[in-house]
Amino acid sequence: MCGIIGVSASTKNVSPIISLGLRRLEYRGYDSVGAALISDGKIMVWKAKGDVQSFLRRFKLEEKEGKTGIGHTRWATHGAPSDVNAHPHLDCSGKIAVVHNGVIRNFAMIKKVLEARGHRIVSETDTELIAHLIEDELPFSSSFFEAFYRAVSRLDGSFAIVALYGEEPNRVYFARMKSPLVLGLGEGLNIVASDIPAIIDHTRRVATLEDGELGWLDDKEVRVFSLTEQGVVEVSREEIRNRIITVDWSFEEANRLGYPHFMLKEIVEQPLAVKNTYDGNVDEPMLSFAASLLLDAKRIIVVGAGTSYHAALALSYYLARTSRLPSLPVISSEHKSAERFVEEGDVVVAISQSGETYDTLEAVRAFKRQGAKAIGITNVVGSALSRETDVVIYMRSGPEIGVAATKTYTSQLMVASLLSLRAAQARGLLLEGEVQELLRRLSLSPEILKAAVSASMKIVGKAPLVGVRSMYVLGRGLGHIISKEAALKIKEIAYVHAESYPAGESKHGPIALVEPGFPVFFVATSDSPEIEGNIMEMAARGARVVVVRPEDLDVHAPEGTELIDMPPAGNDVMLEPYSMMPYFQVLAYVEAVARGYDPDKPRNLAKTVTVE
Ligand code: AGP
Repeated sequence: MCGIIGVSASTKNVSPIISLGLRRLEYRGYDSVGAALISDGKIMVWKAKGDVQSFLRRFKLEEKEGKTGIGHTRWATHGAPSDVNAHPHLDCSGKIAVVHNGVIRNFAMIKKVLEARGHRIVSETDTELIAHLIEDELPFSSSFFEAFYRAVSRLDGSFAIVALYGEEPNRVYFARMKSPLVLGLGEGLNIVASDIPAIIDHTRRVATLEDGELGWLDDKEVRVFSLTEQGVVEVSREEIRNRIITVDWSFEEANRLGYPHFMLKEIVEQPLAVKNTYDGNVDEPMLSFAASLLLDAKRIIVVGAGTSYHAALALSYYLARTSRLPSLPVISSEHKSAERFVEEGDVVVAISQSGETYDTLEAVRAFKRQGAKAIGITNVVGSALSRETDVVIYMRSGPEIGVAATKTYTSQLMVASLLSLRAAQARGLLLEGEVQELLRRLSLSPEILKAAVSASMKIVGKAPLVGVRSMYVLGRGLGHIISKEAALKIKEIAYVHAESYPAGESKHGPIALVEPGFPVFFVATSDSPEIEGNIMEMAARGARVVVVRPEDLDVHAPEGTELIDMPPAGNDVMLEPYSMMPYFQVLAYVEAVARGYDPDKPRNLAKTVTVE
């Protein structure tokens, strides 16, 4: 996720607006920063690796002159953080400047075509290709806008684009496809930005752009068009007027897009995060290479801490089930248990959204010292894990501000599914048609998540954990793996002692804790119909039994059981986590708020644990 802003004003210098906008958008991405202004018909660009403060201090952007400009804070997805990879990116002529948020899926093909046509690509980013693509269309177009929309129509993936053209010094061009862009409509100035915090200091009249819409703005007007197969159709001014809302949020609230907490915002963001994970990795050569490493491995160890360990368990489960590859899941801080036998030929897969978790880095270092190869799965380009592993796969979920892992967990599951599918394909266990069908089903995950999040908001509104101090969350097979993450969320956010346990194992002791009314939540998944027996056992002892299931999964439960029906997942273990995880994330969140805790900053916890 990156932060984007574009401004055109008649009376004032826009550089202070862009500078403040970059500060407002910093939470969306902060490994590199850049800006461009049109001054005397020329495009001036300043950009560098590093955070917003160091960028503004170094270039003194507020002191530059210009009535039209764009700015960008980067969360790297293609290409490590560096000066050359920072946005804005220029075409060969230097007359077109582009900033972008999202993932261009067909960037490899576009790059080949552009280089064959003589364009000089200087960065590793997919964004730079957009500037050259527009330049490539210009000679065949009757206007810059036509070249702009013809170039945009050739892009596949998710993107929010803002562009300048030196020969039109008052205009800012924009296009939205699955990455957010909003318009700010002011007096003598108009703004386009990734979200509202960058706008509300200058105007509170905001209108959102829909997917597939593009257009341009200057200091006097905003023109919006819809991209169709035949070209572009203008969206009426009346329609745009109807979309305008007057935002009365404070900046602090706007920073969370009006959500009361980042955790809730990130739970709701999961469909887009997982879509970006899918789009950015489904055809990613590095992921396929990682899959081939797993095939050749003597042994596979999967390692992580906290939520990332739960994702490691899911990876181990999918590798076994889909590609029939055995693997050993290890908790990062317990890596010494495996260190003794790890040797040359083994492969360790380390999962860490921050890429900075001390325990996980130590595990990777230890296994590499024994001769193992290391695959990293992380959300942060340029993180220690990305530098210390032999192959790295990026989750592309965008920055996660809340201490609790939510969207990064479901993004990690998406990587786990894609990796195990590619390994199965490489092993010849799946025919091409079967792979395509499984990938098609996986691409449904964002829709399932979207339905699950909205369903959870309704179900959990009744705060079902009132007065609960201790509870079980039980599951079998994949359900047990999901139950571990569910229990962690409830513990770390609502401070309720939720214990995850294998449902089948609970009769070997833990059931002794159960007395009438004791809450036992079950996670029902299609791989373990035996769970019905465990539900009966708990109900027979008077437990308060709650069964969370995809609505299309048949689960027979006794009278009095609370059935929580979540969106259908086609009895597919690769899809069931997206149907049920939001319920537990929202449950933990709602309970924490009800108990007066801050879900974004739970006691005793840090977002990244960089100590032993
Ligand atoms: C999960 O909600 C916690 N924030 C914590 O368990 C976290 O998953 C763990 O510290 C690992 O972090 P990482 O993914 O950045 O390595």
